[in-house]
Amino acid sequence: MIFVALRLVLILGFLMHRVTLTSHSKFVDDVKGYRSACKSIGWEPKQGCTDSVIAFHASLKNHLRNVPVKTIIKFEKVHLNKGNGYDPSTGVFTAPEEGVYSFAWSFLSSTGGTVYIAAVVDTQVLANTCINEQKSTHINSSGHLISELKKMNKVWIRTWWQAATYMHADNFSHFSGYKISLS
Ligand SMILES: *[C@@H]1O[C@H](CO)[C@@H](O)[C@H](O)[C@H]1NC(C)=O
Ligand SMILES: *[C@@H]1O[C@H](CO)[C@@H](O)[C@H](O)[C@H]1NC(C)=O
Repeated sequence: MIFVALRLVLILGFLMHRVTLTSHSKFVDDVKGYRSACKSIGWEPKQGCTDSVIAFHASLKNHLRNVPVKTIIKFEKVHLNKGNGYDPSTGVFTAPEEGVYSFAWSFLSSTGGTVYIAAVVDTQVLANTCINEQKSTHINSSGHLISELKKMNKVWIRTWWQAATYMHADNFSHFSGYKISLS
């Protein structure tokens, strides 16, 4: 125990010494180096120092009917919102930091239902999905998007082409996303 504490003091002392002598990027590289060294001997910090998670998952609060073209879908029932990037009052995700992100959405319509969805990254449409005059009662449609975002870039999904006739709530229609890249 004393040995571990002593080693920690030595590492910290060394780090602090380096802070005064090295540039910011060199310091970040050094910390990453020490972290992987600590990891390789099975010693990991229990808190702090860990990479922050950015992830959200939200569902429709109420069924939606006859949603006009170009309406942003607000998934108001938030199950998870690590990093607070998703705003349920607007339906828009704002990247808290730059990186590569993954997004997915899924919706359930009803027999005869037509739903056209576009996924938008900073006003640019990057993915479309649709179901047109749905044949079966229970079927869901889904889409997926991977995008490299700068900090503050915005992502949302909205209707396009035709008004969406019906989207079912009860956790059947949802929008989720998370940051894939570690830094
Ligand atoms: C239905 O939703 C699930 C979960 O989101 C997805 O894995 C599946 O591919 C979807 N089915 C269709 C037909 O899109
Ligand atoms: C939807 O998910 C929430 C968990 O976030 C759960 O409490 C609720 O019972 C679910 N509702 C339905 C209809 O499955």
